[in-house]
Amino acid sequence: PRAAPYEAESAQVVKGKVESNHTGHTGTGFVNFDVVSDAYVEFTVEAERPGPTKLDFRYANGTSADRPLDITVDGTQAADNLSFPGTGAWTTWKTASVTTNLTSGPHKIRAATAGVDGPNLDSLTVTPQGPADTEKP
Ligand code: GCU
Repeated sequence: PRAAPYEAESAQVVKGKVESNHTGHTGTGFVNFDVVSDAYVEFTVEAERPGPTKLDFRYANGTSADRPLDITVDGTQAADNLSFPGTGAWTTWKTASVTTNLTSGPHKIRAATAGVDGPNLDSLTVTPQGPADTEKP
């Protein structure tokens, strides 16, 4: 089964604002990063199995400039300046992705501003890439 996305508005939000004034977001809103550094959204996620895992960040960026974010997993860098290019409109939502190795169990995945304003962040979807273990009876 496809896991439901982790909504940014339900994550820990530091120096960001939960807003809902642009349509097309999932859940009840999205996070508008408020400052250009030290702002972050931290998701607590559950990895269902170990191995390479795709992190899909759903976002909108109505400007033509990149709005990169630094991605860490449990405090360790997973992506430096992950690109969040313009989506054409604040109501057009796309996905920026990085694949990282996870152990199974809980992890803290943080998306932080990297010196420029961030995108509007809607959600995170966590998808293991490796084959599933054989089901236990
Ligand atoms: C606009 C837009 C906001 C967005 C902001 C920005 O004000 O309405 O949702 O966050 O631009 O540039 O970050």
